[in-house]
Amino acid sequence: MVEFTLPQNSVVKTGKTYPAPGATNIRLFQVYRWDPDTGENPRIDSYEIDMDNCGPMLLDAILKIKNEIDSSLAFRRSCREGVCGSCAMNINGKNTLACTQAISDYTGTIKIFPLPHMAVVKDLVSDMTHFFEQYASIKPWLSNDTPAPATERLQSIDERGKLDGLYECVLCACCSTSCPSYWWNSDKYLGPAVLLQAYRWLADSRDESNSARLEQLDDSFKLYRCHTIMNCTDTCPKGLNPAKAIAEIKKMLVSRPSE
Ligand code: SF4
Ligand code: SF4
Ligand code: FES
Repeated sequence: MVEFTLPQNSVVKTGKTYPAPGATNIRLFQVYRWDPDTGENPRIDSYEIDMDNCGPMLLDAILKIKNEIDSSLAFRRSCREGVCGSCAMNINGKNTLACTQAISDYTGTIKIFPLPHMAVVKDLVSDMTHFFEQYASIKPWLSNDTPAPATERLQSIDERGKLDGLYECVLCACCSTSCPSYWWNSDKYLGPAVLLQAYRWLADSRDESNSARLEQLDDSFKLYRCHTIMNCTDTCPKGLNPAKAIAEIKKMLVSRPSE
């Protein structure tokens, strides 16, 4: 049998425990910690939280840890209402937005990790550089050489409706980092988030670059590494369906008029 030995610095150690003296309504949060400046291994710190003095969402608990217990904890957040996409993390094994996830949806200990298979900058902060470079590669803006009308480029109600389920994406990367194909091939596979965004522009009646956009996507790695495993759709905290968007791109490619 093949045996694998992990590098010594990849072993996650048990960290500190922070009790909540006097509290009677306690939930335990175990949080991944890693600081590249210390040279130490990652560790899991445990925080007891007094739920009688904590807001209802996971982000509330994380903010309470940062503000009242351990100010060294690093994480991203901005809007606290599911719009900026920056508080994406892995909670009890599933990627989600900490600000829109209720603590009461979980029983027992809550385990909080950074998004899977991404390089970690510190603690819960993932390195999103490559993800956003991939996003930029699909040219996520309106491409239209027809001179702009005096007021605006109009759409019918039906044309506008085709963007529903696409424009709501907040680029949190929960879907891409739950996709096994993206784990193994993220250097070349664009992943569900970027492909959903690519389809958002293909589906836009005002955009005139479908041919060039499809040509760019027609690649065995960029698009066709999707094997319809559906983790992406299962995990999207905004209830979107990246797997369907990917299937729509594949349909557009096969029905493309031949030159
Ligand atoms: S459907 Fe495609 S993109 Fe979504 S998780 Fe599966 S392989 Fe990844
Ligand atoms: S499709 Fe959903 S999970 Fe993926 S990046 Fe957009 S909002 Fe996040
Ligand atoms: S803080 Fe903006 S999506 Fe959670």
